[in-house]
Amino acid sequence: MSKQRIFSGIQPSGNLHIGNYLGAIKNWVALQDQYESIFCVVDMHAITVPQDPEILRKKTIEIARIYLAAGIDPAQSTIFIQSHVKAHAELCWILNSVTARMGDMEKMTQFKDKSQKEGTERATVGLFDYPVLMAGDILLYDTQTVPVGQDQVQHVELARTLARRFNKRFGETFVVPEYFVKEEGKMIMGLDNPEKKMSKSAASEYNYISLMDNADDVRKKIRKAVTDSGEEIVYRDDKPALKNLINIYALLANISTQDVEKKFVGKRYGDFKNDLAETVVAFLVPFQKRMSEISDEDVLTVLRSGAKRAGEIAEKKMQEVKEKVGFII
Ligand code: TRP
Repeated sequence: MSKQRIFSGIQPSGNLHIGNYLGAIKNWVALQDQYESIFCVVDMHAITVPQDPEILRKKTIEIARIYLAAGIDPAQSTIFIQSHVKAHAELCWILNSVTARMGDMEKMTQFKDKSQKEGTERATVGLFDYPVLMAGDILLYDTQTVPVGQDQVQHVELARTLARRFNKRFGETFVVPEYFVKEEGKMIMGLDNPEKKMSKSAASEYNYISLMDNADDVRKKIRKAVTDSGEEIVYRDDKPALKNLINIYALLANISTQDVEKKFVGKRYGDFKNDLAETVVAFLVPFQKRMSEISDEDVLTVLRSGAKRAGEIAEKKMQEVKEKVGFII
């Protein structure tokens, strides 16, 4: 039996942090043996909010370099840049026109959140259409499973709806994708606010530990991280800040959260935080070293061959789609 296919992506905007690594990339590395994996750098999604062109280019390479340094193996998995495969824009347009309805789109909560600051009037049409582009990403590759964060589930649901609707009208064309979400409670939260997900666009840099932070930054940020009242190092829902720090520790040390509790019985928050900071540093230093050893040219070589592979799959699917909607091939 051939392997199931997974597809996921990250936007090249903001600073990738340990939440992105522990919540997404680390899992992808573990999944790539079991699944035929496609990992995308979604630059077309990134431009739905203003980006500086030079920084966007830099970040695009940086995300791919992070994939590689984290252990995504380009011999095994496909890594590519979304804008290198034209089919993403083409399928987005076709889905926009023949399957996506205003009624579906008006329910999208991420658009509501993201457009709130400046008001819907000022939001771009691209930001509104973001979920359809994402549906296209997924459907182009007959993706069976999409590993995503909880905040993206609604978008994958939309992809399912659009696939079903298209199949119903034009005959079996798209695989209706499943998704899996990291268990609730394992999501990495902000260091300055454990009620909200760690965010690469957070206002304060004390919200996250960037994958680029140096050892001193890490120590400072962990020292400043909010903690709960009490003394003991316990993993409990009523201690969300501590729970988050224990999750980070457990994931980086590859031990269970119970083992973290055991390790710190009788110790104080300060001891735990010091040890956590050193655990983060012990991960980041070699990670950053691996990154520094991968040149831009190496990254681009991987991305170009990834685009070729992805492009072949996508092109085939587009032929079928175009034929079905009545375009001349
Ligand atoms: N919207 C996703 C996020 O912000 C990124 C993304 C774009 C994606 N296309 C995708 C994720 C396709 C999974 C599958 O996290």
